[in-house]
Amino acid sequence: MGKDVIIACDFPTAETTLHFLDRFQGRKPFVKIGMELFYGEGPEVVRQLRRRGHRIFLDLKLHDIPNTVKKAMSVLRDLDVDLVNVHASGTVRMMEAALEGLTRPDGSRPLLVAVTQLTSTDQQALEKDLLIEKPMEDVVLHYALNARRAGLDGVVCSPLEAAKVHEACGPSFLAVTPGVRFPDGDAGDQKRVLSPAQAKSIGSDYIVVGRPVTAAEDPVAAYERCCAEFID
Ligand code: C5P
Repeated sequence: MGKDVIIACDFPTAETTLHFLDRFQGRKPFVKIGMELFYGEGPEVVRQLRRRGHRIFLDLKLHDIPNTVKKAMSVLRDLDVDLVNVHASGTVRMMEAALEGLTRPDGSRPLLVAVTQLTSTDQQALEKDLLIEKPMEDVVLHYALNARRAGLDGVVCSPLEAAKVHEACGPSFLAVTPGVRFPDGDAGDQKRVLSPAQAKSIGSDYIVVGRPVTAAEDPVAAYERCCAEFID
């Protein structure tokens, strides 16, 4: 899979999601299904989007004891999605268990990436809420190295951190980056943001874009702007 723009379909129902994607008329954007949609609609929404020909990032950010994560992953592997994730803070052992659960008997599996630190977390929250005294960048790189050690394919991080992740973990280790905003747009709750063009120049492999596309007056034009800046 090459560089691509993934639309975060943070909608409450399958109906709203399918209606939204109908606007793309024949184009099949790579989509992200998150907790809201998955918990609301269950696995059937994944199958529906699959049948329509979309590639899918199932963003459920698993974080539990290794055995539970392994078993949950073995359920997700049969949904035939392209990309799934866990929290790197669940430990190397948990990430290894996730990979085991995700791998099919024939050795194939979806890509697995780990969330380093959420792009809504800033240095102050890291220190005050999580009692982590290290600089954000050190924490992200440490978690990325843990993910690589566990055999994962990459991490979810801020585009601000993508270059450092590649430097530390190698160029083929994926940097999937939410926290993307147009320079003329609203950052909302995201704290560590870059534009699609900046994410490209800094080496993101996939950008995950939600509200700048889903809440745009013309979502198709906003998506195309992302693709033009990030891929072309
Ligand atoms: O609307 P917005 O572009 O902020 O959406 C970003 C999407 O990426 C959301 O679905 C959010 O859950 C997800 N995400 C994130 N930060 C992470 C991991 C995932 O914003 N570190």
